[in-house]
Amino acid sequence: MTTSTSPGTCTAVVGLHWGDEGKGKVVDLLAAEHDTVVRYNGGANAGHTVVVDGQKFALHLVPSGILYPGKLAVVGNGVVVDLEKLLEETEALEARGVSTESLVVSSRAHVVTAYHKLEDEFRERLAAGDGGGSAIGTTKRGIGPCYADKAQRATAVRIGDLLRPDALHEKLETACRFKRALLEGLDAGEALDADALTSRLSAVGERLRPRITDTTYLLHDQLRAGKRLLFEGGNATLLDVDHGTYPYVTSSNCTALGISTGTGVPGRGLDRVVGIMKAYTTRVGAGPMPTEQKNETGNRIRERGREYGTTTGRPRRCGWLDLVATRYSVMINGVTDVALMLFDVLAGFDQIQVCTAYDVAGERTDRFLPDGIDLAHAEPVYQSLPGFSEEITAVRARRDLPATAQKYVDFIEEFLGVRVSIISVGPGREQTLLA
Ligand code: IMP
Repeated sequence: MTTSTSPGTCTAVVGLHWGDEGKGKVVDLLAAEHDTVVRYNGGANAGHTVVVDGQKFALHLVPSGILYPGKLAVVGNGVVVDLEKLLEETEALEARGVSTESLVVSSRAHVVTAYHKLEDEFRERLAAGDGGGSAIGTTKRGIGPCYADKAQRATAVRIGDLLRPDALHEKLETACRFKRALLEGLDAGEALDADALTSRLSAVGERLRPRITDTTYLLHDQLRAGKRLLFEGGNATLLDVDHGTYPYVTSSNCTALGISTGTGVPGRGLDRVVGIMKAYTTRVGAGPMPTEQKNETGNRIRERGREYGTTTGRPRRCGWLDLVATRYSVMINGVTDVALMLFDVLAGFDQIQVCTAYDVAGERTDRFLPDGIDLAHAEPVYQSLPGFSEEITAVRARRDLPATAQKYVDFIEEFLGVRVSIISVGPGREQTLLA
């Protein structure tokens, strides 16, 4: 299957909401017309679900492009890698007949260790101790502590270090010294034993050796050879550490803006940015969500959309589409076209609400508030659009959607100022309408 637009040299796929928009399905679709699929941010906190020939694959670290034979799959320097999860994932793929031979990992990507996960949990518990106000509701995958160590430098371990056991041991001794002081009183077992960690990590390093490389040079070599690259954003725009609803965000640059630092490929090479949005809005974890529906509407969306986390299994918070937030994300990412996902979930509502502005302290605004504390004071202003009663999972062309469903898509296009080029009406590859 190919899309109607011709592929550029570089395409990015980024989530426009708070994650779980269905990026995996779109990456899988676009991978067909690219040579290489690249992850540039985040780690095992991301969860991409792809259904191929009725088989469901839940990927966390391995780029979704791996499901297409012959594509190079790259984990860039901006990713934080949980080695055990990576091995688990590659083994599970191999066991299901998917070759992972083409997977390579940047020697400069950072390593998530057992103590990062302990620290993540410890910090969340401590924050929740004050009444839960400052807990972020993280995935507890050690993402924040690992990125913090990357910025701290003295306590960081990179993939390339795994191949230098002496230097690795020294780094882990320093890191354990710091972490023991921080996690005082916690029974950490081998998670804070530098000797045990060194032997575990160097053994994994040996297994990974053929995959470890300088991915920056590799990607530039590919570009020079005329290859087409597809960048797969983990997490999503409103979780971006700089541009999201801080502090209720993850710790990386999830937007297309993170591609340059997370891979070493300059932004000017990017000629298509596909923004992925749901037909409604969801969020996992803490933080403001102006359109959240803690009622029958929210429950109906959750059940029809099977809105439970791929990574943690947590029920997702569900609500109406927030177009103010989505338009901000379109702007930040330089989105060229949009994929509208999970449209089938909205079938059966008489009226569908979309948020087109906020009321903040008596003032109306059509601007997003990219700050978690400010956004908590935003009251959504809705426009009501007619719904559609028919199920649309079997529809295969935009013009065959019910008239009111077509109007919903037109409204989104007009409000965002970009084309909806992909509409998804179910999890399967074939349940995709290309405009
Ligand atoms: P962390 O990334 O585990 O530190 O979690 C920080 C926040 O981002 C929490 O609210 C998580 O639920 C959320 N989060 C992180 N990654 C994803 C994702 O891929 N989808 C949805 N939410 C995510």
